Order: sequence, then C-alpha cells, then structure tokens
Amino acid sequence: MTEQQLVQAAVAAMQRAYAPYSGFFVGAALLAADGRVFTGCNIENASFTPTVCAERTAVFKAVSEGVRDFKMLAIAGGKSGKLTGVCPPCGVCRQVLSEFCPPDFPVLLAETPDRFRRVTLGELLPYSFSLENTP
Ligand code: THU
Repeated sequence: MTEQQLVQAAVAAMQRAYAPYSGFFVGAALLAADGRVFTGCNIENASFTPTVCAERTAVFKAVSEGVRDFKMLAIAGGKSGKLTGVCPPCGVCRQVLSEFCPPDFPVLLAETPDRFRRVTLGELLPYSFSLENTP
C-alpha cells in the first residue's frame, strides 16, 4: 500500500459520507501495521451532536476489530464531496489519534486526488494531554 493508494482510499471513503446537514463530506483511510486499511466517513445526525467524524469512524472500526497498531492515516474532505484543498482533522480527532499513534505518526492530507501534504500527528497536536505529567 503506497501513500498515494491510501489517499485514494480516503477520497473513495469521502463519497460514502452521510452529511445531509453540513453538506461537507470527509473520508479517512487508516493503514494498520498488518496491512489492513480501515476506512471511515463522517456520519451526521438530525440531532447534530451524535455526528461522528470520518477519522474517528476509521479509528473506532479498527480498535473494535482488535487492531491498535497503525502506520499512517489519509484524510480527504470538501463541500459536496469536492476536493479543493486539504481538510485537517478536528481537535477531538487529533486527541483520539494521540491515544493510539505516536507524535511522528504520518498524516496525509489530500489536496487533490493526486496530490497530498504530509504532516505528523505531533505537528497537528503539540503539547498534548496525557495522564502522565510532562517533566
Ligand atoms: N468532520 C469530519 O468528518 N472530520 C473532521 O476532522 C472535522 C469535521 C465532519 C463532521 C461534520 O459531519 C462535517 O465534517 C462538518 O463539520
């Protein structure tokens, strides 16, 4: 699985978003250490707060299948499913990712179906919360 293939999986997952309220479609593709790919999309709800992001859908699918060891994540998102730039993950998803992934974990942000930006989780969530005190 190449980085470009993972980005394509995120772009494909974006089209499965259920986003009738915001019209904003997001897809995520999480590559596990065993080579499996867990995809996710955002799933909205008429009551709004139960809405879940694409990234957390992917993480929760993997963890609930017993998989906790990850290599990288790709994210694609845009209005009405159109990619016009990167879609960085929200703060809640950054925190959820930090539970399972180290600061050097690569996050690929799709700009177009063929172009992406690579950042690390540590860049996205510096000085993050954990139950250990920072010396
Ligand atoms: N959304 C995601 O799926 N991931 C994020 O990181 C941020 C936002 C979704 C939630 C909602 O369905 C829509 O985008 C607009 O906020």
